[in-house]
Amino acid sequence: MRILRASVNQLLLVIVIYLLSPATEAQQATYRFHVCPNTTTFPVNSTYGANRDSLLASLSSNGTRGDGFYNTTAGRNPDMVYGLFLCRGDLSAEACQSCVTFAATDISRRCAIEITAVAWYDECLIRYSDVNIFSAEAEEPTVRLFNTQNITQNVADQDRFNQQVQETMSETATLASNTPPGSRKFAARATAANISSSFPTLYSLGQCTPDLSSSDCDRCLRFAIGNLPRGSQGARVLSPSCNVRYEIYPFYNQTAVTPPPPPPPPPAPGGNGNSRRSWPIIVSIVVPIAVIILLFFLACCVLKRRAKKEYDAIQAETARCDISTVESLQYDFTTIETATDNFSDANKLGEGGFGDVYKGVLPNKKEIAVKRLSRGEEKILIYEYVPNKSLDYFIFDSTKQEQLDWSRRYKIIGGIARGILYLHEDSRLRIIHRDLKASNILLDGDMTPKISDFGMARISLELIKLKELLEEFGYMSPEYAMQGQFSVKSDAYSFGVLVLEIISGQRNSNFYETDGAQDLISYAWKLWKDERPLELLNPVLRVNYARNEVVRCIQLGLLCVQEDPADRPTMATVVLMLNSYSATLPMPKEPAFVVHSRTNGEMSYKGLESDQSTSQSIPLSTNDLSITELHPR
Ligand SMILES: *[C@@H]1O[C@H](CO)[C@@H](O)[C@H](O)[C@H]1NC(C)=O
Ligand SMILES: *[C@@H]1O[C@H](CO)[C@@H](O)[C@H](O)[C@H]1NC(C)=O
Ligand SMILES: *[C@@H]1O[C@H](CO)[C@@H](O)[C@H](O)[C@H]1NC(C)=O
Ligand SMILES: *[C@@H]1O[C@H](CO)[C@@H](O)[C@H](O)[C@H]1NC(C)=O
Ligand SMILES: *[C@@H]1O[C@H](CO)[C@@H](O)[C@H](O)[C@H]1NC(C)=O
Ligand SMILES: *[C@@H]1O[C@H](CO)[C@@H](O)[C@H](O)[C@H]1NC(C)=O
Ligand SMILES: *[C@@H]1O[C@H](CO)[C@@H](O)[C@H](O)[C@H]1NC(C)=O
Repeated sequence: MRILRASVNQLLLVIVIYLLSPATEAQQATYRFHVCPNTTTFPVNSTYGANRDSLLASLSSNGTRGDGFYNTTAGRNPDMVYGLFLCRGDLSAEACQSCVTFAATDISRRCAIEITAVAWYDECLIRYSDVNIFSAEAEEPTVRLFNTQNITQNVADQDRFNQQVQETMSETATLASNTPPGSRKFAARATAANISSSFPTLYSLGQCTPDLSSSDCDRCLRFAIGNLPRGSQGARVLSPSCNVRYEIYPFYNQTAVTPPPPPPPPPAPGGNGNSRRSWPIIVSIVVPIAVIILLFFLACCVLKRRAKKEYDAIQAETARCDISTVESLQYDFTTIETATDNFSDANKLGEGGFGDVYKGVLPNKKEIAVKRLSRGEEKILIYEYVPNKSLDYFIFDSTKQEQLDWSRRYKIIGGIARGILYLHEDSRLRIIHRDLKASNILLDGDMTPKISDFGMARISLELIKLKELLEEFGYMSPEYAMQGQFSVKSDAYSFGVLVLEIISGQRNSNFYETDGAQDLISYAWKLWKDERPLELLNPVLRVNYARNEVVRCIQLGLLCVQEDPADRPTMATVVLMLNSYSATLPMPKEPAFVVHSRTNGEMSYKGLESDQSTSQSIPLSTNDLSITELHPR
């Protein structure tokens, strides 16, 4: 066994390479990795140190308790220590006890004076901290371990294997996160692998600490799965809240693993599940697309380790999102009529881009917002009702701007990034939003961002009017606007525009000409080139802000609006960049400029990347915007 250890302490993503070695039984626990930043330490003989030691002793002596998981505290504030252990789900109480006993001693040796620590072993995980870590999802620090041997030498087969691994792991994750409350959040399976005759079986495992909610567990596992390398014969991703692993040999006790129960079917509100459609008044309401308003957690900076982490749950509805899915939730049209008091004016919340929006209350008292797209054929979208307003309402209004200080805006940026990442990577289908803009970011009572209205672009373009389209244009990447090509990178572009708007408090589509720049992007780029990026900052923010955060966000925004989609970062990279102060960002290249002239309804797109100043002029009509379908992954 050889472990090459990256010399990292604060690094978020640690990569360790190990050579294949079947599990050894001789030791009580096989050490894999630990993280305990030496940037925060306690003095020798301090109260905190004493509490830490008694915490570890108490974890160690309670190793047979709690079904393989146990959390406890030691001492009282301000020197309270929070700690927990988690044993691999297939272990017996005795095997768990023996790993925890070993780990408690081992971690105090490796992390003698560090205030927070986490260590992973083949059989268990141990962790302590000075902040409350219970029931809070922590994806970071993330450790990747992988077998250096490829499954095959053939790259196409590697891809095929990778796809199998991703699908299998995803199913395993669903099983692990949907176990009944109070039981282990653990699943391990052996499934057929048909890549190479020498490796007929794929063994996979996913586990969360059982104090997480199902949705937090699911999110954590999917984040981990997203970090698995491709092509390797075996790999695992370890984080404080969850871990995943696959191998081509059994690495867990198969007899101890009972087949997990199937995940519960999605709830079917509305009652009349299988009743015949009482056409024509039943409206198929595409709840999955529309309702998927995700609750996004505030991205937390790991460095602000003392701040209490807060995460919200992602709505369960995110699981299904194809507009055509048979399993779309269906509400009887009369239910909606009753809920909105017959679309009464009193319930009207506003006039949205594509229809009026009404507030409604379902029989189960759930508040909804109903958008009536058209009446002839009754197209209706139902949303979770969000009591606050959308982001544009705050950031572009000279008085309301003040309600969002820099730290709030920074959290919103992080929340939006994670939300889009969720759509792109973590949801079961790859969802490309295509219509990201400030008015589609809803803020709840805590100013936590929620992304809404995705999948709308296709419906909406049919209805959209010229004037509205011009407004949309501020967020569209040139390749989307001009050729109707969209990808995760066109969402990244829109995200970049949003970031620049959040920082500057100015609309890209309605930019007040400053400094000879025609739009916000070119203005931001000009300031960046002139090395005075902070001048972009909204004046109300200038009293109190974190300079490095602002500059990084501007840089990130500019990276996202680069002309060549290939140059733009993926949302996974964006999230990583936002979470890590140590990651160096590349220098942005010149952005794409969409120059539009409002007078003649034409717009031209200038690729300023090359010296030639050719500009294409494209007549603006909705027919030119052909949009293709979503593709499930
Ligand atoms: C922290 O760890 C790094 C590398 O592991 C080491 O170079 C540095 O000296 C340590 N700092 C302290 C204060 O121990
Ligand atoms: C810590 O306490 C031990 C015994 O009480 C003592 O011998 C040692 O000098 C102390 N160390 C420090 C740094 O105070
Ligand atoms: C855990 O172990 C400690 C001994 O270190 C013991 O005092 C405590 O009662 C145990 N906790 C439980 C819940 O049994
Ligand atoms: C364990 O964590 C839960 C929250 O997940 C908390 O309610 C409980 O008090 C903790 N147990 C101990 C002994 O601190
Ligand atoms: C594994 O495959 C990758 C290509 O997918 C290749 O770059 C790498 O060198 C291979 N490693 C080994 C050990 O064969
Ligand atoms: C490999 O397995 C998958 C499902 O497990 C199956 O759909 C596919 O047809 C199999 N391929 C071959 C070549 O057997
Ligand atoms: C595997 O689990 C079974 C059932 O829990 C147990 O009887 C057996 O001793 C375990 N085997 C090993 C090697 O731990």
